[in-house]
Amino acid sequence: MKNIVILISGGGSNMVAIVRASQQDAWQQRFGARVAAVVSNKAQAQGLAFAGQHDIATHVLDHKAFATRENFDTTLSEIIDGYRYPGHGVLVALAGFMRILTPGFVARYTGRLVNIHPSLLPAFPGLHTHQRALDAGCKFAGATVHQVTAELDHGPILAQAVVPVLPGDTAAALAARVLTQEHLIYPAAIAKLLQKP
Ligand code: GAR
Repeated sequence: MKNIVILISGGGSNMVAIVRASQQDAWQQRFGARVAAVVSNKAQAQGLAFAGQHDIATHVLDHKAFATRENFDTTLSEIIDGYRYPGHGVLVALAGFMRILTPGFVARYTGRLVNIHPSLLPAFPGLHTHQRALDAGCKFAGATVHQVTAELDHGPILAQAVVPVLPGDTAAALAARVLTQEHLIYPAAIAKLLQKP
């Protein structure tokens, strides 16, 4: 069994898309994989309720309770590693997880740590991607699924979706259009990873 642990901070719509795909596309039968746990650094993250209703373990780990990033990441990795199966590492998917991870954490999960970012990386790493794309006069925007490396919002690209920027777009309108594509490419990219031995 390959367990997937999803880290969220808020709405969790990408997490919901991954869980739905895992069920609809029978990841358990096809890849021996399931979403085992959702971890949020915010107690009020809406995604936690959905996970709880779908037989997925939930954990809240409030980063404010930790003196250092290293301490937070150590406890986070203890939670994640509790879902390991012998012979299989855990696949960790960041889904709107708004925390910068330490190099030690990233190294621990090399090749098994993926993220979705709401821009066409390497353009617009960091925050406020949609407003920055509008301000730059981009004609296209999008989202990127990538392997996580120590450098923020970098790492080998696994999938991208491109959406047009429309006349009169606001950051919110563009974000919503991009998000619908995120929900398609993130589960697909994870399914592809799960097919690897
Ligand atoms: C998504 O647009 C995701 O790409 C973005 O946050 C949103 C989370 O939505 N992630 C980042 O900005 C990470 N740098 P969700 O909680 O509904 O999945």
